[in-house]
Amino acid sequence: MTPTVAIWILFLGIAIPHHSEVLGADIGINYGRLGNNLPTPKRVIEFLAKDLNNAIPLVRLFDPEPEALAALSETNLIVALGTLNQDIPQLASSLDFARDWIKKYITPYINSNGQGTRFRYLTVGNEVIPGPLAAQVLPAMKNLQQALVEAKLSSNIQVSTVVPSGVLGSSFPPSAGAFAQDVLGIMTDIANYLHSNNAPLLINVYPYFAYISDPEHISLDYALFRSQNAVVIDGDRQYYNLFDAIVDSFVAALVKVVGSEDVKVVVSETGWPSAGNEPHATIENARTYNNNLKNRIQNGKGTPRNPNLNLETYIFALFNENQKPAGTEQNFGSFYPNMTAVYPLW
Ligand SMILES: *[C@@H]1O[C@H](CO)[C@@H](O)[C@H](O)[C@H]1NC(C)=O
Repeated sequence: MTPTVAIWILFLGIAIPHHSEVLGADIGINYGRLGNNLPTPKRVIEFLAKDLNNAIPLVRLFDPEPEALAALSETNLIVALGTLNQDIPQLASSLDFARDWIKKYITPYINSNGQGTRFRYLTVGNEVIPGPLAAQVLPAMKNLQQALVEAKLSSNIQVSTVVPSGVLGSSFPPSAGAFAQDVLGIMTDIANYLHSNNAPLLINVYPYFAYISDPEHISLDYALFRSQNAVVIDGDRQYYNLFDAIVDSFVAALVKVVGSEDVKVVVSETGWPSAGNEPHATIENARTYNNNLKNRIQNGKGTPRNPNLNLETYIFALFNENQKPAGTEQNFGSFYPNMTAVYPLW
């Protein structure tokens, strides 16, 4: 940039586009809509892009909400878009249904120059493995992938699914991570399909739930990224926080079924509730967890297993959602529905 241009930019107050790619790994947020008091989708996207000035460059949607998709096309935000769980059987059984899905929810938001809404992932269902829909996830992924290829969109958008830690049968120590016997066949096929497409598995990682299941033995400092000492020693790897340990147990499970270290994960959800279960779920603990997480991700530091991994991570969630089950489930938001911060984070 020449000095003259720099002066003009200062003078005119033009914002230099924010290229999150160069600032370590990407940080995102889950935009859940299970609340009857939330701002309109258009206002929410404007809130992320303008009020928060793209401080959070990535956003995950659980379903293809047209108003949000249209608003996103006017922004630089990058989108992980989910299909509804109830659409999985038809996506799995009908290539035509998958083609129509892409024509309805993806193509209209991308213009002829390939610009518009910046879709990065298309995720089939949310946490349906293990479960009755589990066997239909991979066929649905394949149909959507085929439909994206036909629409010439497959080089920009990767198809995947979102799994909970319930797919793991063992997770301790992290190197012993392995898929549970009842989903082993399904996860082996999905993992190999993702590997052949160079696509990540999206994993939900909740140190909070691990911690509250055994607060006598799991230290709060380990769960909140505050431990000064290695808490788990796994061979030559030292774990200072539970988040890294859970991520690496997923990685170990994938490596075992793919037979290669070259596997990819994205953390599609992580977070800590601010209320609903004291003394564990408090504003102070939620603030600590999410701020330490954010710093860890933005510093671009990997996990002990893969120190160079830039771990793309989506915090759960944007808002408190009053139509989720009562208790902590309603209190994962970093904002209240009136867009006031629950604690300083962004
Ligand atoms: C926003 O909502 C929270 C929680 O209900 C409340 O404590 C706060 O006062 C509200 N802020 C504004 C500006 O209305």
